[in-house]
Amino acid sequence: MKLTIIGTGYVGLVTGACFAEMGNTVACVDIDKKKVDGLKQGILPIYEPGLESIVINNHKNGRLQFCTSLSDPIAESSVYFIAVGTPPGEDGSADLRYVLAVARDIGRHINSYAIIVDKSTVPVGTADKVRTAILHELHLRGVDVPFDVVSNPEFLKEGAAVEDFMRPDRVIIGTDSEQVRKAMRDLYLPFMRTHERLQFMGVRDAEMTKYAGNAMLATKISFMNEIANLCERMGVDVENVRQGIGSDSRIGYSFIYPGAGYGGSCFPKDVKALIRMAKDHDFEPRLLDAVEARNEAQKHVLFEKITRRFGARLKGLTFGLWGLSFKPGTDDMREASSVVLLHELIGAGARVKAYDPVAMAAAKHELPDGWFKSGQLKLVDEQYSALEDADAMILMTEWKPFRHPDFDRIRKIMKIPVIFDGRNQYDPALLRKTGFEYSGIGR
Ligand code: UDX
Repeated sequence: MKLTIIGTGYVGLVTGACFAEMGNTVACVDIDKKKVDGLKQGILPIYEPGLESIVINNHKNGRLQFCTSLSDPIAESSVYFIAVGTPPGEDGSADLRYVLAVARDIGRHINSYAIIVDKSTVPVGTADKVRTAILHELHLRGVDVPFDVVSNPEFLKEGAAVEDFMRPDRVIIGTDSEQVRKAMRDLYLPFMRTHERLQFMGVRDAEMTKYAGNAMLATKISFMNEIANLCERMGVDVENVRQGIGSDSRIGYSFIYPGAGYGGSCFPKDVKALIRMAKDHDFEPRLLDAVEARNEAQKHVLFEKITRRFGARLKGLTFGLWGLSFKPGTDDMREASSVVLLHELIGAGARVKAYDPVAMAAAKHELPDGWFKSGQLKLVDEQYSALEDADAMILMTEWKPFRHPDFDRIRKIMKIPVIFDGRNQYDPALLRKTGFEYSGIGR
């Protein structure tokens, strides 16, 4: 099939690359000329395992092309995927500005039947707005071109995006058109192990499925963080409780790891957007409000522990921080708990030496210049150098090289052997036995 993907962010680029890998001819369109020029030379705007080689190979064999405008002849097709950002607006609602601008652009370009696929995470009712925007442009052009708007939310996880796209648990298609069902079946069945994984439903149902899925996962995490905080006050180790409840098949082990709060480009934004949608429909989302509130509070838990140990003024103290990205396997720092903690530590006068296996460039780019200039934040290029002469170590992201470090070496190079483990990666009993002060989440 010939496909056009608009937006080369996480979702758009992975979608385009994986469809090309499956034998389709794909044009990826992005208004950012620098990004497009880079992609043509094999320079990717994001770090994602396995993505680079797929992009480069398919660009070389001609199945994956890049351009900056829908008016480019290579962008002409009968299936258009909208995969642009939906950043949170001031009131928490998803800002549809970019999605609707793309819809209008599509309306200005299509000349024969086209399927328009909403892949961006968009509030319930967006497909109707996309349809109206396209109709409006067609009307201005004085032409009558048939088209369908479909909701096809994306469930890929950062750090495993290619894997998730190539072998999805399920693909959700919201449409009431038989023609669309057939086209989507042709497109997605090669990715499916079994046919039932392709699920058809109404357009609004599909839009809601994405939000409900992310909100459910966020709820599991916030629930577990709440239990962890309670465990800590009651002399209970939440890690035993996690394993105890995870073994109940109705609960399951996934997404019940307590920590320093969830981050990333999806959960925080999508929970807020769902809360907004509920309020716009005169419904008080008590549970979602609590999920969000717990997460906001959870991002401060480590700092509270640090000030309980060292006092409110941290001037003269140096902290070694392992992990900056919001989770392992990505250089993404959007809504990362590490950023909240850095603001608090540096605000209290501390110095921080930080290391992350892949997010160093992102950190240089995204964190305030003043922190580097004043010397309060230093990025080091090796994990142990972050801990040299440190008054405490903080683990923020559970990257593999951080999971089984050389604790003898750590104890020797640190000024005081204190560990704040924001992801419960270490064995408290073992560390305490070997002379460390250990503080985890909920234990
Ligand atoms: C998420 C959804 O999983 C994915 O389906 C959707 O398409 C986009 O949002 P992603 O943001 O890439 O994916 O990350 P995910 O692995 O889900 O983790 C999100 C956050 O939750 C991270 O900050 C992670 O550290 C945290 N988390 C996850 C926990 O604190 N505990 C857990 O048990 C699981």
